[in-house]
This record gives sequence, structure tokens and C-alpha cells, in this order.
Amino acid sequence: MIDKNKYKELSKEEILVKILETESLIHSVQDVDVLLEQILTEARSVVNADAGSIYIAEGDRLAIRYAQNDTQQKKVPAGKKLPYIFFDFPISNTTIAGCAAYTKKLVNVPDVYNIDPALPYKFGRATDEKTGYKTVSNLTIPILSMSGMLLGVLQVLNALDKDGNPEPFSHDDEIYLSHFASNAGIALEHAFLTRSMVLRMIKMAELRDPKETGMHVNRVANYSVEIYDRLAFKKEIPASEQTKYRDSLKIASMLHDVGKVAISDTILKKAGKLTDEEFSIMKTHTWLGARLFNSDASPLDKLSMEIALRHHENWDGTGYPGHIDLKTGKTVQTDTKTGKTKGLIGEEIPLGARIVSLADVYDALSSKRSYKDSWTEEDILAEVKKMSGKKFDPEIVDAFFDVLERIQAIKAHFVDE
Ligand code: C2E
Ligand code: SIN
Ligand code: SIN
Ligand code: FE
Ligand code: FE
Repeated sequence: MIDKNKYKELSKEEILVKILETESLIHSVQDVDVLLEQILTEARSVVNADAGSIYIAEGDRLAIRYAQNDTQQKKVPAGKKLPYIFFDFPISNTTIAGCAAYTKKLVNVPDVYNIDPALPYKFGRATDEKTGYKTVSNLTIPILSMSGMLLGVLQVLNALDKDGNPEPFSHDDEIYLSHFASNAGIALEHAFLTRSMVLRMIKMAELRDPKETGMHVNRVANYSVEIYDRLAFKKEIPASEQTKYRDSLKIASMLHDVGKVAISDTILKKAGKLTDEEFSIMKTHTWLGARLFNSDASPLDKLSMEIALRHHENWDGTGYPGHIDLKTGKTVQTDTKTGKTKGLIGEEIPLGARIVSLADVYDALSSKRSYKDSWTEEDILAEVKKMSGKKFDPEIVDAFFDVLERIQAIKAHFVDE
């Protein structure tokens, strides 16, 4: 529970120390979502705001990403979250947040129900009406990238005085909030860079093998998300975790074969069956791809690494690459029975990789490749059933069959050219 009056009693020096502390957070917290939420919490504490939100720029609109409200939070049982709200609106100077985004300037409104009619913006009353909350003061600031591009908006509501009553935000509050906005800018810019790097990597793999990759990658990503959502429902994974994971899974699953860019065309596009030697080269696409990611950099990087590395491991331990050194590809653990590299078994294989494994094989069997014809749906489904508990995690096979109709709709939608 945040002590509302804690910061009003702090000296300016102490407030500055507080701000510096959150600045160092940027380097310790990796997950952008966690970081943004923390920035909002800290920003609110420093300016003693009862509520606040972060909006993200998406094209020419602003979409709400986080909302916090201490007064509303007190009305619900401990541990329970406020209802999930989602809305977006155009970036234009007709709303307060829109105006801050549009002009890229801070907007300080002492009383949202008494805005000078000469000003371009009005207060959007919809949220107050829905929640019964009364907004009074509103301080809103754009979040910009280093180069001045609009990334989003940070908004704090109802500065509280010593007695807990709303008062206008002060000039000092404006200065403090701008520090937090620039921290949020660095965090968001990092997230967007990761995303655009990923999209470039997908393009690169597509240039290498345009016939196979484009639609295959889209199908595998969409199948994977369908399977995960079903699994998350069955396992009662909390909605917030589910949203975060599925976003990463969608991108990371697209990159499962990115290591194939390192495989020569003679092997990659060979019309017939690979020799043992060619297949052992082909298998390196797992760890060569995995090495493109730095799993300490972000949850997305970590998941991308796990999926690239582990999507050919089998539930029963017979897959590849198994226990190897990621730098050299050399075996670090040998199976005493076979004398080969020991494969990962069961839940040792990361969840994302177990999902993509099924999605990838379902799609490979459905498709014509340079080396094979496509299979009939009936044969594919029989094969998937047969491989449950051998190649595939049985729970994932069950989830797959639960959502089969949607899987088949996706297959019909993303058709190879
Ligand atoms: P891919 O074509 O995307 O296939 C992915 C996975 O789907 C394969 O992983 C395998 O588990 C399954 N799969 C694909 N086709 C068949 C099939 O006809 N029968 C069965 N039972 N399973 C199938 P795998 O085997 O580890 O192969 C990885 C990648 O190596 C393949 O990706 C493909 O790019 C290449 N590859 C594998 N075998 C051959 C081959 O005989 N000739 C050529 N040119 N490439 C091959
Ligand atoms: C809204 O709540 O509709 C937008 C918030 C704002 O006007 O700043
Ligand atoms: C590739 O052949 O470059 C990738 C195809 C795939 O994603 O399976
Ligand atoms: Fe692969
Ligand atoms: Fe694949």
C-alpha cells in the first residue's frame, strides 16, 4: 500500500534521490511491461497522484496500456485487480491525452470539469461516469524517443493534499513527471527496437527462401497462439500473464527456423532426401538460430532463443540438438545407452518449444516441400495422435485437438502462393 503523504514530506533532495533510483531500475528490470508499470507507480508517488495511466501510440491513435487508481483499488478485495479496461482514441488536440501527444507538450489541467472553453481539448467523461470516480486535476506528458518521435503518453490524476483532497499539480510536479516520461521513453524505445529487429530477421529469412517461409511462418505463429490459449484456459493461467506470453510467442514462433539462413542452398533446397551428413548440417539450424538471441536482453529474446534451440526436441528424449554447448555446438552430456548427445525430455523442453514443435510438424506435413508431397488431413491427424507422448507433449496434443476447427480455419486462410 502506498503511503499517500510520504513524498510530500520529503525534501527536494530526497525526491531527486527517488528519481535517480528509478532511473537505475531501467538497467535492472528487463521486462518492458513490468518496467512501465513501475515507472507509473513511482511517478505517482513522487507527485502524490491518486491515479494515473500510460497510453501507447499506435499509428495515429493512443491506446491505454496501464491504469492505476488507489481510491478504486481500495474498494476491491486485496489481491483482486481492477476491471481490465481497454479503449483507444485519435491523436488530436480534442482530448487532454491526445493534445499532449499531438503537440508533444505537457498539459496541466487544474480542474477537468472547468476547462477554459477557449482551449481545444475537453475532458472525456466516459471513464468517470463508468467507474463513479471523480477526476479533478490532470497532468499529462508525452513520452518521446531520443529522436523526438512520439511513443506514448504518461498521465497522472488527482494530486492529493495533506488531507487527501485533490489539488492542482504544481510546477515542481511538472518537472518531476518529465523525468519519469524520459525514463519511460528509453524503456519503450528499447522495446520497439527489439520488435523491429525481429521483423527484419523474418524478412531476411523470407528473402532466403520466399516460397516456403512467408505463409509457413504465419501459420505456425497462429497455430501456436491458438494452442497456447487453449492450454492457458485449461491451466487457468491468469489473463495478464496469458496476454504477455502470447504476444511474445507470436513473434518468437515466427523465428523458429531463422537459423536456416546459415544453411547452404544445396542442402536447404535439395529436391530429394538428405544424406546423413547433410542432415547433421541441417540440424545446426537450431543452435545457430538460437545464438542470434541474447536471452538476458528481454523475455521476447529468451523465448525466441528457447524456441529456435528446442523446437526439434522430442517429448521422449529422442530429438535434437539436446545437451550441447550453445557457443560451439559440442555435446556436453552423452546418453549412456545410445552414445549420442542426450536429448531434453518432457518438461525439460521449454513450453514454447513444445507448442511450436507440434505446430511446425502439422504445417510441414500439410505442405509440399522440395523433398516431399503434402499429406492428407486424415493422415496428418492420425500421425499427430500416434506421436502423442513420443514426439509431442500429450497435453499439447489434447489442446490442439480441442481447437482443431480454428487451426483448420487458419490453414485455409494463410494459403501458399
Ligand atoms: P521442415 O520441412 O519444416 O520440417 C519440419 C519437421 O516436420 C521435420 O523436422 C519433421 O519432424 C516433420 N516432417 C516434415 N516432413 C515429414 C515427413 O515427410 N515425414 C515425417 N514423419 N515428418 C516430417 P526434421 O526432420 O528435424 O527436419 C528439419 C528440417 O530439415 C526440415 O524442416 C527440412 O527443412 C529439412 N529436411 C528434413 N528432411 C529432409 C529431406 O529429406 N530433404 C530435404 N531437402 N530437407 C529435409
Ligand atoms: C479519455 O479518458 O477519454 C482520455 C483521457 C484524456 O482526455 O486525457
Ligand atoms: C526456410 O526454409 O528458410 C524456413 C522455412 C521454415 O520456416 O520452415
Ligand atoms: Fe526447424
Ligand atoms: Fe519450420
